[in-house]
Amino acid sequence: MPAKKKTTAKTDTAKKTVAKKAPVKKTTKKVSKKPMKTPELVRGMKDILPDQGYRWAQFFDHASKTAQAYGFRYVSTPILEPANLFQRSLGKGTDIIDKEMYVFEDKDGSKLALRPESTASIARSYINHGLHTLPQPVKMWHFGPKFRHERPQAGRYRQFHQFDCDTLGVHAPVVDAELIALAYHIVHDLGVEATVRINSIGSLEDRQNYLVEFVGYLRSKRAYLSEESKKRINKNPLRILDSKDEADQEVIAEAPQIIDWLSKDSKDYFMKVLEFLDELEIPYELDPTLVRGLDYYSDTVFEIYVTGEEGEARLALGGGGRYNGLVEELGGQPTPAAGFGLGIERIMLALDRAQEKGEDIALATKPTYQFYLAQLGEKAQKRALHIVEQLRKADIPVAFHLAKSSLKAQLELANKAGASHAVILGQKEVQDGTVIIRDMDSGIQEIVDQKKVVKHLTKLLAKLQK
Ligand code: HAM
Repeated sequence: MPAKKKTTAKTDTAKKTVAKKAPVKKTTKKVSKKPMKTPELVRGMKDILPDQGYRWAQFFDHASKTAQAYGFRYVSTPILEPANLFQRSLGKGTDIIDKEMYVFEDKDGSKLALRPESTASIARSYINHGLHTLPQPVKMWHFGPKFRHERPQAGRYRQFHQFDCDTLGVHAPVVDAELIALAYHIVHDLGVEATVRINSIGSLEDRQNYLVEFVGYLRSKRAYLSEESKKRINKNPLRILDSKDEADQEVIAEAPQIIDWLSKDSKDYFMKVLEFLDELEIPYELDPTLVRGLDYYSDTVFEIYVTGEEGEARLALGGGGRYNGLVEELGGQPTPAAGFGLGIERIMLALDRAQEKGEDIALATKPTYQFYLAQLGEKAQKRALHIVEQLRKADIPVAFHLAKSSLKAQLELANKAGASHAVILGQKEVQDGTVIIRDMDSGIQEIVDQKKVVKHLTKLLAKLQK
């Protein structure tokens, strides 16, 4: 069969059409609308700009690979959920439900909420899709925006992002330790000095026994408590243990500790979790006041945090725990579960602070390139795009600005990008099927066949990375 002649008919016709076209009339139509005043960001919201975005993308890559290495699979649930999902799961009397949730009425009158967290959504999804029929446990990771109407400050936004991992379907100390290890390693690998605070709040029964004692104690000290804590005695007394108020601190220091009210089973369970953490050499602090304040938690609760400079509050990068009763509370079968959520904005803040102190952190704000592809002329531009594709497929990062026409400007950009070599493609190289590879420091140039450019740069990259 004769080789197919490249079809040019279409392009020829197109050229003619363009040539024949009547000159475009200039319209004098007036723009009637005045441009609006540029809208501002909604309070508590944040744009993620390119430099931060690079770090975010790397975080996402690192965290998802780590979770996947621990056997977690990606899931995603909607941002909008029925408001009562959270009201029932997190419980009335919590700040999130009482003050912070974005709730609105949908067109059919139903109450919807912008999710303030996703543990409740994960449990709902597990029930809705019958995930209990899968081999247990079901291990899921997920990432996305959450909404809480809090007072904005450094590391606290009204829209923020969490990276969550949850294990549903088993009750075993090793699973709690595995989750804590995973959260710790995700953060620690970035170069952030993180510590784990841990406590056990026992089973529901343990907690009810403890609450009788604790509420009695709080009532006896009512006069010394802050106004906020006085209100909490009846609504959500455990939250008082979280209070930062100085007056409350004195009362808390003398309070009965939940750990002393755990049953033998709950205590043994907790000891085993700690043994696993010792075995894994995960640094932790026992914190008898850590309760995490949401209704769904039971047994192990933990937080990952970094201690700030003197006077700076310590920054909670994430938190989690067991929530054995939640699936049943939401109408599913009794299903033990545990998980954690990491706050990405907080992790970014911790990275910024560590970087300011000159500490070695893993996530850069800009990519670094060894190679820069410079081109001259339209034909070279076209060829350059092919080379970009070949390099991408071979996983060789290359910087370029194909809209630039001056070689000098492109070589300046190559220097700015930190490239050690420029790959130059001019008219002559296009004709010869070659590229010039120029050492940016010495100026020494080499001519390489375009077909061998991937092989050549792969070798060069390996040499440079040694
Ligand atoms: P949480 O402690 O409410 O837990 O949130 C986890 C992390 O999200 C916090 O430690 C913090 O880093 C970040 N975070 C919370 N609120 C904000 C905010 N307003 N601005 C910026 N970051 C924030 C939960 O949400 C649980 N659902 C975690 C979990 C998953 N438990 C079991 N599975």
